[in-house]
Amino acid sequence: MTQDRILVLDFGGQYNQLIARRVRECNVYCEVVPYKKAMQRIREVTPQGIIFTGGPNSVYDPQSPQIDPEVFSMGIPILGICYGCQLIAHNLGGRVTAATDSSAREYGKTETYFDTNCRLFRGLPEKSVTWMSHGDYMEKVPDGFRLAAHSDACPTVAICDESRGLYGVQFHPEVNHTAYGAAMIHNFLYEVCGVHGDWTMRDFCKETIASLRETIGEKGRVLLALSGGVDSSVLAALLGEAIGHRLTCVFVDHGLMRLDEGDEVEAAFAKWDVNFVRVNAEDRFLGKLAGVEDPQTKRKIIGAEFGYVFRDEADRFGITQEDFLAQGTIYPDVIESGEGDADVIKSHHNRLLPPQVIARFKGVLEPLRLLFKDEVRELGRELGLPEYLVSRQPFPGPGLAIRILGDVTKEKADTLRQADFIFRDEVAKAGLEKQMSQYFAVLTNARSVGVMGDGRTYGYTIALRSVTTTDFMTADWTRIPYEVLDRVSVRIVNEVPHINRIVYDITSKPPATVEWE
Ligand code: XMP
Repeated sequence: MTQDRILVLDFGGQYNQLIARRVRECNVYCEVVPYKKAMQRIREVTPQGIIFTGGPNSVYDPQSPQIDPEVFSMGIPILGICYGCQLIAHNLGGRVTAATDSSAREYGKTETYFDTNCRLFRGLPEKSVTWMSHGDYMEKVPDGFRLAAHSDACPTVAICDESRGLYGVQFHPEVNHTAYGAAMIHNFLYEVCGVHGDWTMRDFCKETIASLRETIGEKGRVLLALSGGVDSSVLAALLGEAIGHRLTCVFVDHGLMRLDEGDEVEAAFAKWDVNFVRVNAEDRFLGKLAGVEDPQTKRKIIGAEFGYVFRDEADRFGITQEDFLAQGTIYPDVIESGEGDADVIKSHHNRLLPPQVIARFKGVLEPLRLLFKDEVRELGRELGLPEYLVSRQPFPGPGLAIRILGDVTKEKADTLRQADFIFRDEVAKAGLEKQMSQYFAVLTNARSVGVMGDGRTYGYTIALRSVTTTDFMTADWTRIPYEVLDRVSVRIVNEVPHINRIVYDITSKPPATVEWE
């Protein structure tokens, strides 16, 4: 078990888990702790270092989240990011004010100048781009601190008191837009906190298995909601390690899978020594979705129906109220569903279980809920899952329902399945799969006029979507070669009835999302 431990104190920022992830990338164990529980946890574990996150408040507002000033005299190094930086200044005799002068308020990519004698910036260029997002600024630097970075607009971009191990930055080193952000976090951990860097995904795996065993108990059973995708398959392997045959994997085929996918999932799991159950529920799901056009309503119906199927299957297999339900929820599902203080982008289906379904079980286990997709894949490899399963492109729980804009019917699902298959087939033939993180077809509700064999057509438009990303929180559209797009287009209009137009989606995330609904 690793000795190093970093605590990330959560002051309500959007990127808190991204900070934790950057720390894990440096092979250091890390926990995110709500600011209210900070002092208790710091005393319990005596971390090697503490990171204060950003947050939406102003430190001089009496209602804003605060920290016991004792934290500054415990001899533990602290890195404050944005709000966290202002909190350090506010507590230690500096002054933070609203940047009424728009020149000191900064947003977006900003050229920044660094003092590379400061340990945080050691070994890095003297000038590079950082990502700013702050409306307040430090008018007066706290006593004992010196300036360690500035921009053209703001003289106080970073401060440090190296004798006490206290550092503050106004920008966000955790986001990719800050050119050397990951290196700065690495410097904080290794140069300032003196960590050993011995934490690995293997540790996470061992610790998670141990804690699952403890939660589930000697006799407890688990019903796993299995979609056959990366997340739930990795969770199946993890739970299999933890409790063996007390695990039952329920795969619900809602009739909105890709071409032949239900059979493929069944075949893949037939090779494993696990209790696997396939439930064919196409009529049940399509019946509930009939005539529903609104994306959030579709998501809610599907999320709830999944829950009811799991409840029915639990009854059928004698899984009691002392047993658990498990889901392969990952971090983007949680954050984009608007939990905590973040905005709802879209409710991911696994956040929509009806309360009576949740109450049916002793608890809902989501051991992957703090991991990003690429970390889940790494965990899958650690557990010895085959590469084809671990590196599969993601497929959303609500399936084709959120790729058919407007109301969903079996005919539309069949049409989309064919078009989507052709796209995937041509990508595979061109050997492009590895460059594309996720790619699929969307059946838009748009119809347009075309001409085929001298006759007028009035058919549907298929949109092709492909993105390249690691964490799925941000994504860029893939530059697919024109020849490949051309082959896909020709094949779809020739082979799939009712389709007479193909478009390619060239928006990144943000401002778009990966899925269209
Ligand atoms: P968005 O569209 O939110 O997609 O940019 C990000 C990633 O999440 C997947 N996604 C889902 N996965 N249940 C899931 O299991 C859902 O409800 C859901 N909605 C989106 C999407 O396919 C992409 O990989």
